[in-house]
Amino acid sequence: MSEKKHGEAAISPFWDKAITAIWIAFLAVLIVNLIGNVVFHGALLPGEEAGEHEKAEVKFGYPIEVVEEAGAAAAGPAQRVSAVPMIAAATVAAGTEVFRKCAACHTSEAGGANKTGPNLHNIVGDAIGDRNGFKTTDSLKAIASGKWDYATLEDYLEDPKRLAPKGSMSFAGLKKPEDRAAVIKYLMSVTENPPPLPAGE
Ligand code: HEC
Repeated sequence: MSEKKHGEAAISPFWDKAITAIWIAFLAVLIVNLIGNVVFHGALLPGEEAGEHEKAEVKFGYPIEVVEEAGAAAAGPAQRVSAVPMIAAATVAAGTEVFRKCAACHTSEAGGANKTGPNLHNIVGDAIGDRNGFKTTDSLKAIASGKWDYATLEDYLEDPKRLAPKGSMSFAGLKKPEDRAAVIKYLMSVTENPPPLPAGE
């Protein structure tokens, strides 16, 4: 018995190295994996809730971008206010061009017909859904401001479903702030007494 043990001990320098090498390889894989998880899949960071993280991962796979996204959403209304100078600077000509996207569904002249969407004459500053016989959805009527002030108008035109999730305007929205500013300038031009632009920041 003791002889056999002796024999085992004799091959140990080789096994020693082999086992050490396997351990190093194993640890290396473990570390790479750990870093990979944190960087690419976003392992839970301290203070992060599991549910929150799940959502973030599906959408962006990258927690840092989620933070930016949340910041952008929170900055929304503030951006609206600072967009006012853009509306002031926009030209009616540029707005007429943008309004071509709306004209499939909307007329804008006084007494113009309702099409898929209501006539938009005198819309700026007007009550929401007060559109000469057009059947406005309850979702649109539920918009908190109750009227088309500049901030509400810009918010709606950026993403109609955000303010009126069950509204009937099937339009993706104007993603460029300069397009929204221009079309609002155009809507002002077809409104007899548009309210003054609020003071910007
Ligand atoms: C595919 C058709 C369609 C397009 C394109 C479209 N709209 Fe609309 N729009 C509608 C419909 C339908 C409604 C009624 C929404 C409701 O009642 O929920 C509406 C409602 C509105 C309202 C609210 C009017 C009210 O009742 O108070 C405004 C303002 C408006 N649209 C502006 C625009 C502008 C500006 C564009 C172009 C940038 C545009 N729309 C593009 C169909 C459209």
